[in-house]
Amino acid sequence: MTLLVGNDRKVTQVHIGIPKEIKANEHRVALVPAGVAALVLAGHAVWVEQGAGLGSGFSDEQFQAAGAQIAPDAEAVWAVAELIVKVKEPVRAEWPRIRAGQIIFTYFHFAADRELTEAHLASGATCIAYETVALPSGELPLLTPMSEVAGRMAVQEGAKYLEKHHGGSGVLLGGVPGVAPAHVLVIGGGVVGSNAARMAAGLGARVTLLDMSLERLRHLADVLPANVQTLYSNRHTLLEQLATADLVIGGVLIPGAAAPKLIRREDLRLMRPGAVIVDVAVDQGGCVATTRPTTHQEPVYSVDGIVHYAVANMPGGVPRTSTLALTNATFPYVLQLANKGWQQALRDNPALRQGLNVAAGQVSYRAVAEAFGLPHTAADGFL
Ligand SMILES: NC(=O)c1ccc[n+]([C@@H]2O[C@H](COP(=O)([O-])OP(=O)(O)OC[C@H]3O[C@@H](n4cnc5c(N)ncnc54)[C@H](O)[C@@H]3O)[C@@H](O)[C@H]2O)c1
Repeated sequence: MTLLVGNDRKVTQVHIGIPKEIKANEHRVALVPAGVAALVLAGHAVWVEQGAGLGSGFSDEQFQAAGAQIAPDAEAVWAVAELIVKVKEPVRAEWPRIRAGQIIFTYFHFAADRELTEAHLASGATCIAYETVALPSGELPLLTPMSEVAGRMAVQEGAKYLEKHHGGSGVLLGGVPGVAPAHVLVIGGGVVGSNAARMAAGLGARVTLLDMSLERLRHLADVLPANVQTLYSNRHTLLEQLATADLVIGGVLIPGAAAPKLIRREDLRLMRPGAVIVDVAVDQGGCVATTRPTTHQEPVYSVDGIVHYAVANMPGGVPRTSTLALTNATFPYVLQLANKGWQQALRDNPALRQGLNVAAGQVSYRAVAEAFGLPHTAADGFL
């Protein structure tokens, strides 16, 4: 249906579906009421599954007041929607609901899951993955907000597990007048590391941040507070700093590779008893040899008297903030997909074009094709 909206602009009305996330422990939602209002204003129809926003603190009434239709169940959302916007990849129970030609915009992480990839190839849907949308600078704008959340949360969790009754050494991050603050060692000065350093510094800790990029260290030394010291990352410096650290935050990333194991098992002996390691890089295998993934239900374990926190989905612990942060970043792309149709939106926006992973039963993202030895058709071939 073509509608006339503000300034007599013609848009083709798109039915947009927001299913409730059903993956275990996922409480985020893909659109907030403010986003619904903007899409409705642009002439689109938004269908939100009943209760989809509750985990993030948004009621059906708030969505309705913004102009959404509340769908009684997931079936109804998937049946009506031309464009499905989600947070997590569709889980097995959702696969039969996917329709050929439907556009799905969400985190997919196809390269890690062959069955998921095959199911979406077979569905005939167009799959645009948040995690591969890439700006010309190389920044991944739909991953950045989650790294911001995890970096900041790492300090909050670290401070908690430093408390004695949680197994920590009993050190208060900021100290008090007359008592030295804690020493926080941040490894990696990217999005996670710089956010962690800023939070720890704000709480009054003495912060040391290591990175291998001098350019990055120059920038951080310029913008971070005076109680953050930047050091070039090498094994010698790392061991020196480990010996006095109360809290270590791991935020290293080598794009496309497993995280390097910078802290070895024997290094734990150098550390203060009851020190805490928050290994945010756990989703890439972790930068500590003794890291194994944990959950929000059981976030920590101890090795040689050192508390390890290694929750692979940290933003899931703060769904309200995470939903708002994620949707701030995804919304402009949702609007482009709805207003222009996916092909024109991808033609016009090279960042979004990088997001195309699957279309018309073919893989359009090289790393996914390579992961499974499947043929690759570049996005341009579909536009
Ligand atoms: N656990 C979670 O819930 C969660 C959430 C978000 C991100 N992450 C993960 O956190 C990690 C960091 O993400 P990011 O967005 O900050 O990445 P980023 O690319 O912004 O930053 C990584 C930084 O690590 C630095 N680095 C690489 N090798 C190093 C070394 N040997 N020593 C010191 N620094 C080194 C790089 O120079 C870069 O500045 C990633 O593995 C990401 O997947 C986890």
